[in-house]
Amino acid sequence: MKAMVCTKYGPLEVLQLKEVEKPSPGDDEVLVNVHASSVNYNTLGRVSGKPFLARLVGAGLLKPKHQILGNDIAGQVEAVGGNVQQFRPGDEVFGDLAECGLGAFAEYVSVPEDALALKPANLTFAEAAAVPEAAVVALQGLRDKGQIKAGQKVLICGASGGIGTFAVQIAKSFGAEVTGVCGTRNLDMVRSIGADHVIDYTKEDFTKNGRCYDLILATAGYRSIFDYRRALNPSGIYVATGGSMSGPKAMAQIYQALLLGPWISMTGKKKLCMLTLRINQKDLVFMKELLEAGKVKPVIDRRFPLAEAAEALRYYGGGHARGKVVITVEPNHKTWPIGGKVCQ
Ligand SMILES: NC(=O)c1ccc[n+]([C@@H]2O[C@H](COP(=O)([O-])OP(=O)(O)OC[C@H]3O[C@@H](n4cnc5c(N)ncnc54)[C@H](OP(=O)(O)O)[C@@H]3O)[C@@H](O)[C@H]2O)c1
Repeated sequence: MKAMVCTKYGPLEVLQLKEVEKPSPGDDEVLVNVHASSVNYNTLGRVSGKPFLARLVGAGLLKPKHQILGNDIAGQVEAVGGNVQQFRPGDEVFGDLAECGLGAFAEYVSVPEDALALKPANLTFAEAAAVPEAAVVALQGLRDKGQIKAGQKVLICGASGGIGTFAVQIAKSFGAEVTGVCGTRNLDMVRSIGADHVIDYTKEDFTKNGRCYDLILATAGYRSIFDYRRALNPSGIYVATGGSMSGPKAMAQIYQALLLGPWISMTGKKKLCMLTLRINQKDLVFMKELLEAGKVKPVIDRRFPLAEAAEALRYYGGGHARGKVVITVEPNHKTWPIGGKVCQ
């Protein structure tokens, strides 16, 4: 099978399209014919080997531990292991492989069944591949850390990006009044996905305009944690899911939320924290239901074929993607028996 392989750390050019052995599923695994994947921030670090700390905590000290990168997938089940209960050949699935070995930038991948859920029936494979990581980060940031409630005033900083476009729609589905912060060219798009108000960060500083929010979700950009605290209502919650992609302030937003958040939270009623994504099948199914109900629709900026995965990552790494960047994989068509479980 074809796969985009990364055998050493370096610039995006180290990614190479190669012919590699097709995996076969273990007893507890599902073999998926990948139709699409999408690009996430962790993949950039897994190619560059930065920050170095990531190498010490499992990415691979001298070279990438996982040579086939990519964590979001949407595709069709080709075969299942003997112990697999939830899926059968022909099922259309999607999932996040970040905690089970990656491997999405390939024609096939073998994964534990719990990493997958049935694909939302109303979505194309490309749309479904845009969902897993970004939407679940947005969901967990708003619902779990942010304790979002109907009627609350919620601000999404980075509303036009991969996580932000899901966050705006998910917050609306919970009945919140949503303000989206983004750049000038994306104001209309953020309004079109449901934001009640939009703020252009190039023209207005939302932390200094006197308005306050019950919940702020910051997906990107950089502001001091004290600015965010100023923009919160007296018992408001600030959740950082990410931070600036590059420049001197890269990662500062994340470290401030992680290290200072708990201390600042102890000094009053406002809560400030960092989200750590917890990948789980239940939240994928939660998103499937929201998507099938038409309450959320993935926003896709550009699609790149598998052979141009490096270009896709370069474009995303610019930090101004409008929604998600998707990688499409040429599907291998097959006819499936109707009913019954087939083991291959
Ligand atoms: N906590 C976790 O577990 C977790 C999991 C996954 C990812 N992440 C983090 O999520 C981040 C990536 O998010 P993403 O994929 O949504 O990024 P993205 O798709 O690149 O989106 C970034 C968005 O931020 C906006 N932006 C840029 N500068 C801004 C500023 N100064 N103020 C406000 N908005 C600004 C951009 O808007 P315009 O284009 O309109 O300028 C862009 O649409 C990374 O930091 C990553 O580490 C965290």
